[in-house]
Amino acid sequence: MERVINNGTVKFYNGKQIPLEMHKVRIVQSLNLVPVERRLEAIKTAGYNTFLLGTEDIFLDMLTDSGTNAMSDNQVSKMFVADDAYAGSQSFKKLEQSVKDVFGKKYTLPVHQGRAAENILSKAFIKEGSFIPMNYHFTTTLAHIEINGGKIAELFTPEAMRIKSSDPFKGNIDPARLEAFINEHGTENIPFIRMEASTNLIGGQPFSLKNMKEIRKIADKYGLILILDASLIGENAYFIINREKEYLGKSLQSVLLEMCDLSDIVYFSARKVTSSRGGAICTNRDDLYSKMKHLVPLYEGFLTYGGISIREIEAMAQGLMETVDPDVVSQSPLFIDYMVKELDKLGIPVIMPGGALGCHVDATQFVSHVPQSQYQAASLVSAFFIASGIRGMERGTMSSTRDEEGNDIFSDLELMRLALPRRVFTLSQVEYTIDRLNWLYHNRNLIGGLRFIEEPPVLRFFTGKLEPLSDWPETLAEAYKKEFGNSR
Ligand code: F0G
Repeated sequence: MERVINNGTVKFYNGKQIPLEMHKVRIVQSLNLVPVERRLEAIKTAGYNTFLLGTEDIFLDMLTDSGTNAMSDNQVSKMFVADDAYAGSQSFKKLEQSVKDVFGKKYTLPVHQGRAAENILSKAFIKEGSFIPMNYHFTTTLAHIEINGGKIAELFTPEAMRIKSSDPFKGNIDPARLEAFINEHGTENIPFIRMEASTNLIGGQPFSLKNMKEIRKIADKYGLILILDASLIGENAYFIINREKEYLGKSLQSVLLEMCDLSDIVYFSARKVTSSRGGAICTNRDDLYSKMKHLVPLYEGFLTYGGISIREIEAMAQGLMETVDPDVVSQSPLFIDYMVKELDKLGIPVIMPGGALGCHVDATQFVSHVPQSQYQAASLVSAFFIASGIRGMERGTMSSTRDEEGNDIFSDLELMRLALPRRVFTLSQVEYTIDRLNWLYHNRNLIGGLRFIEEPPVLRFFTGKLEPLSDWPETLAEAYKKEFGNSR
């Protein structure tokens, strides 16, 4: 059956502007909305860290889109025909073919997830004293660069940090800053330039193809490698064909190919791009391929499975092919756009324009009475869990690190991320999210601060524990019960 692509543009007779789902749901998972008392207990036990909650206490899991996007019927069916072999699997050949078709790269090095690709890239290219210029870091990227002796330089434009902006491409690298940085530090200390598609930590914000071409030009001028983190490439390409004049109406496939063509290396977390597990590093350059190739069997597994189950490789190969389908890729950005606009109408501070992977609430404004040293975003995420049963993710100072003196390095932005994995939630669930956030906004003065009681030395947000600085969580739960009566 040939698919007709609608790209979320179906008009309603009543004039409403709401995203229309271009899929139907055939496998479902029941949800549990537990009373507020239990949510309060659960977040306490989790040390006010939503990573440590169990799903038995969670209603809508908006922690991440990583590995939680819905798979297609075609992906699931492919998993049953997987060719299970340690070496030379036909399933891997399908993955190589998908990478050639969608990314235009002849070499594919499979890895078990995105950060494993970062490990290999860092081991192959970074040494003590290296600098990596980029639009913005991702948590695991930064950790791998630093552990190998490198430092990052985030060369974004001023708009990137503006919460409410009309800039369609807040993920751009500032070309003038990049060139000045290269001249200051010397090409010998810059193993590569990194561009992250739909820049995660600043709200899933894309870069334009115009910007990428400018960065490519600079890379060529100085003989530098350009590496693309393509974990959210489909969404970045979707924004290009909807927001960049020169590319309006172009096909996703052509834009994806152009983005990859401008990159020497493309790596990705398949958990995000394709909903399967795994990841890969892809290139056309023989020299770069041979620099990395031997590290894959050492850290991941043989070159034709890379630590991923062969079934997942089949799902990945199929998922990559679906990344060129606008109805697949647009679903999450359209829901995010809807959510962001509705929250903005209510006066709730959110990152605008809406980006990829989730809606990002600005904790700096939401809980402006809580000092940044008391983890504003973490406080908001815990409060929202109590007030809704929805699990968000802290993306602020709790996800940052400390300096050599042991002081917190304050995050540029304090965000609560509410991820909307592809084709997982319904619009009424999004409405519930907006409604509970609205209630919390009107009761925001009840939210207080947190402090660490257990703090791991690296990536502390995953397993660290905090405690409240007063009994504000109890007060908030009481207010909630008063409002909603039945304590749900
Ligand atoms: N790069 C980007 C841009 C990412 O968003 C992620 C993961 C990774 C690399 C690492 O990939 O998880 O497969 O090891 N992002 C997830 C998130 C974890 O929730 O945003 P991974």
